[in-house]
Amino acid sequence: MKEQQMILVLDFGGHNKELVAREVRAMGVYSEIRPGSLTVDKIKALNPIGIILTGNTDKCDPGVHQLGVPVTSSHDNLQSFVMEDCKARGDYDVDGYLEQKVAEIRQAVGEQRVLLALSGGVDSSVCAALLVKAIPGQINCIFVDHGFMRHGEPHAIAKAFEGQDINFVSIDAESRFLAKLAGVTDPEEKRKIIGHEFITVFEEESKKLGDILFFAQGTIYPDIVESGGDYGNLVKSHHNVGGLPEKLGFEKVIEPLAGLFKDEVRKLGAKLGLPNEIVNRQPFPGPGLAVRCIGELTKAKMDTLRAADHIVTQEIEANVNPAPQQYFCVLTNTPSVGIKNHTRIYDPVIAVRAINTQDFMTATYYPIPHEILAKIANRITAEVDGVSRVVYDITSKPPGTVEWE
Ligand code: XMP
Repeated sequence: MKEQQMILVLDFGGHNKELVAREVRAMGVYSEIRPGSLTVDKIKALNPIGIILTGNTDKCDPGVHQLGVPVTSSHDNLQSFVMEDCKARGDYDVDGYLEQKVAEIRQAVGEQRVLLALSGGVDSSVCAALLVKAIPGQINCIFVDHGFMRHGEPHAIAKAFEGQDINFVSIDAESRFLAKLAGVTDPEEKRKIIGHEFITVFEEESKKLGDILFFAQGTIYPDIVESGGDYGNLVKSHHNVGGLPEKLGFEKVIEPLAGLFKDEVRKLGAKLGLPNEIVNRQPFPGPGLAVRCIGELTKAKMDTLRAADHIVTQEIEANVNPAPQQYFCVLTNTPSVGIKNHTRIYDPVIAVRAINTQDFMTATYYPIPHEILAKIANRITAEVDGVSRVVYDITSKPPGTVEWE
């Protein structure tokens, strides 16, 4: 096998490091992002075929320019820099990644079992499919349904993995979560309770399975870059892990997607045979629809929000092409007067949000054609009980975050 070529993105505080690294990968060339503080010796050891500087390059060690590989700080014509100056072969794709990770997982895990928290999102689903390929029969998956999933979602997740050898367990924890959240209105408090309850439920379920050494999670490359971490080893020891595995006391964590950008994760998922509705699904926050329901959470409010959200999803997916990166409903806690069936109502307002974004750090509202917005409003007010009117959120991020809570 030919040695993999790598373009190094050496970052001095740039906002576009991920965009640059992704652009290089889109040319079929592997790229990695490292901090500008990396020593010249370490850069040399990485053996890049070229270096792209991002951010304030004044701070760049002059030794970087004397390594004998092409270096640029211009991002105007990366194609010719990478393909011509660096003489890249352009033969990197997710096939090679898949082969490599399958071998690494087999080597690291041996005959042991691996536990995966399956959320049904793209990353954890692709992670499950990759594990099935590598170590069939050695996987346990737990899906905690907190009751804040979208219409039909728990069923779709169970169906996608039906018949697969993953010992899939789905836990209906809706009433537990709602009980813990009764009377709570503060957004941060709500998030904290949901996170805590999630761990409690997961812990109870994983205990029932006995001792499992490995915990797998679908961490992807941007998560690693943002946390300042280093990508390279498949298995992490517990001290540099945050969140669920640490709280559950797992010593060994495997992150087989940690070298991939989101679009590559989707490609890998398709290659592994996951259905389109899982592979191309929009991002969905861990606490689910709970961060889209302002004020106290109740079963009735969740059902109203889920029904309205389903209409938005149907109309946008049928009529808006290309689809916005994210689109959903928010159930506000502002009531307004309306008339339904000749009767005065005083029910909450639903807000529709749809955004255009490159990286979710900034976003603008998506200009959905007015006739489609009108159809969405007509359908929601006619088909969903407990909604008086529908408004469209046209706020950019910043200042408005994507989610309302
Ligand atoms: P904000 O609201 O911060 O959202 O502008 C940016 C992106 O992050 C998603 N998001 C979350 N994802 N857990 C997640 O996994 C969360 O708690 C969470 N909160 C926001 C949001 O949907 C958007 O894509």
